[in-house]
Formats: sequence, structure tokens, C-alpha cells
Amino acid sequence: MIYRSYAKINLYLDVLERRADGFHDLETIFQSVSLHDELHFESADEGIELVCSNPALDCGNSNLVMRAARAILAHCPEPRGVRIRLEKNVPMAAGLAGGSGNAAATLIALNELWDAGLDLDTLAQIGLDLGSDVPFCLVGGTVAATGRGEELLPIAPLPETWFVLLHPPFPMPTGSVFEHPALHKCGARGDRQYSEAFEGALRGWGRNPLSDLCYNAMESAAFAMRPELGPLKSRLAEAGCTAALMSGSGPTLFGICGSEEQAVQIAEQFPDVDRTIVCDVPVGVERID
Ligand code: C5P
Repeated sequence: MIYRSYAKINLYLDVLERRADGFHDLETIFQSVSLHDELHFESADEGIELVCSNPALDCGNSNLVMRAARAILAHCPEPRGVRIRLEKNVPMAAGLAGGSGNAAATLIALNELWDAGLDLDTLAQIGLDLGSDVPFCLVGGTVAATGRGEELLPIAPLPETWFVLLHPPFPMPTGSVFEHPALHKCGARGDRQYSEAFEGALRGWGRNPLSDLCYNAMESAAFAMRPELGPLKSRLAEAGCTAALMSGSGPTLFGICGSEEQAVQIAEQFPDVDRTIVCDVPVGVERID
């Protein structure tokens, strides 16, 4: 069995306040994009084995793929085994939910391979223990979310959109961005259920252009930690993007482009940065064999 796990970007991300469990309440809009990893699953008599194309990735027991596999195994009545090969293309600790996507693909694939018979809600509950973005990654496409990012709300799919992703050459640990004193939190909503912008997006894409929606509260902290990110984001706008934004807790930056051709033209203006041209995709995980 071969599966793709797609990267995500956040078109909108507001941080409300820190909760008693240490996580922050969010309002966010996720979008799956075409950049993806590939996972190969081969049944084995026993044991869980993981190898990865990127030697920088720890394939030990703490790897999210290993943890996802063990969680499914715990729901299987009989002993099961698997050999997993991960072809890594999505940068790690980059705000693209690469690891969460790998975990989501593993949950879906092994539920199938091992006949565990778990429904999507159960997979999402198991996934939330692995990471806040895993429940979204199981579904993918265009999804609004609240809570830690696991309360998924229906929203219209984005019309075909092209993006240039810029990949700064350093990771950003999500926890430290959330803990940074410069993080701008908007606090509890009080009388309002959601922010005006978030509510507008929930009503559909017809009313407001996507570029008006783009907002990420985590830029306040990430740009304080890495001052080179602010000017890099400005360059995307100067290069002709209709909007530019950081994804998740960063450091990935993305620019919205009018067409694939324009995305190619804009990407050429960043010979000094690792970059990818992507478009929106309607799923988070996809079986391809
Ligand atoms: O869930 P995930 O593993 O992505 O979270 C990594 C860290 O980011 C958490 O340990 C927490 O410090 C922070 N976080 C948060 N609020 C969220 C999601 C993550 O504070 N909604």
C-alpha cells in the first residue's frame, strides 16, 4: 500500500488564550497543498519497522509514524506487523504539519492493512494524542477549526489557488513559538462566537478575497525569534503575490499567486531560498496504489 500525506498551510490563524491543559485555543483555516510525503506499507508477521529517506529524521519509538502504528496495533485483537518506508519531501518542524500528515496516513493505512475496523472519529481521537493537527490531516482539503485545531467546521473548498512556499533553512519548535512573550493573543471572544474575519470565511469565499483574510497571530512571536522572516515575507508581496503569510508556527512563508505561470515567475525571484510551487488539494491523505 502506498499513501501520500499532503502538507498544510494556515490561511488564517488566531491565537485566543492559553488553556488549563497548556494548549492554546485557536481559530484557524487549514488548506492542504500539493507538496507531499510518500509512505509505503508492507505487511509483516510481527514488529513495526520504519525507514526514512531523510537520515535527519529519528525513526525510533518517538517518531509520530511509530506512535501512530503502535496506537492502531493496540486496537488489533491479534499480533500484526508492518514495514514502513517514508519518502520525506515536506520540511520538518516547518509549520506544514509534515509529521502530523505522516501520522494521519499511518492511522488510515494500518487501520485498513490490519483490519482494525476503527471509524474516522476514533482515528481522530487517537490522532489528537499524537498532535493537534492530526485530526485535520486525516480529512484535509479546506477546513476551519477551533479548539486546539481539532474541532473541525465545514467551509467551502478554496477555488483553485497557486502558492509559492519559501522554506527558510531552520526549524521552528512549535512549543517555543507558543511560549514566546511576543506572541499576540487576542484573549477569549466574550460575547462574539468568532472573529469577524473567521466568521466571514465560514460563510464562503464569494464575499471577500482570500488576500483580505490572510492573518497569522504567530508571526508576532516567530518574527521576534527570527528577524529575517519579516523582510522575507515583504519580498513575497513585492514580487507580486496578492498576499503573503507565515504558515502555522513557521518558519515556512507562502505567497498567494494569480496563476501557475505567475507562481513560476515569482519563485524565480527567490534564487537564494529553497522554494516550492504548490496548489490547493482536496484531501490530506490519499492512497495511490
Ligand atoms: O499538538 P502539537 O504536538 O502540535 O503541539 C506542540 C506544542 O505546541 C504543544 O506542546 C503546545 O506547547 C503548543 N500548542 C499550543 N496550542 C495548540 C497547539 C499546540 O499551545 N493549539
